[in-house]
Amino acid sequence: MTKNLKSAIFPGSFDPPTLGHVNIVERSLNIFDHVIIAVGINTSKKNLFSTDERIAMLQEIFKDNENVTIEAVDGLMVEYAKKKDVFTIIRGIRTISDYDYELQMSLANRSLDGRIETIFLMTEGHLSHIRSSIIREVIAMGGTSAGMLPDVVERKLKERL
Ligand code: PNS
Repeated sequence: MTKNLKSAIFPGSFDPPTLGHVNIVERSLNIFDHVIIAVGINTSKKNLFSTDERIAMLQEIFKDNENVTIEAVDGLMVEYAKKKDVFTIIRGIRTISDYDYELQMSLANRSLDGRIETIFLMTEGHLSHIRSSIIREVIAMGGTSAGMLPDVVERKLKERL
């Protein structure tokens, strides 16, 4: 196995982290020895939680897993990949509507650095409806996350909304 196959970067906004994200990390660890969760900036989104808050939630979720590290990325993901010397990116695809965006992002990343490969994992069927934006709306209107969020995130989200 080559060096690049041992670690992978799982980038995202994680605002907030969901059980869909947790599932992708757990499955990635069946393929890679180590997963770096990279909390990045998506300029098209308005954040609910600060980067530090999202990192704190992810740290709590993965506190017992030494094969997961969590870091903030404040610039381009490819620059972060170069700094880490890890050129494999993992992304989850839930539905066909994710495909266009993911294709564009993976091609953009490759045009910035041809060493980058993005590996897509199909989200488990029972988690494919989970979207951070929908959950935020449900909780804001007094609903429960109904198996969509880790406990720590549900608590924080209720406090916030
Ligand atoms: O969970 P999201 O919002 O779909 O994640 C998007 C994210 C954060 C992975 C993406 O916007 C990103 O990589 N941002 C860092 C800046 C960057 O490299 N942008 C170009 C990616 S094509």
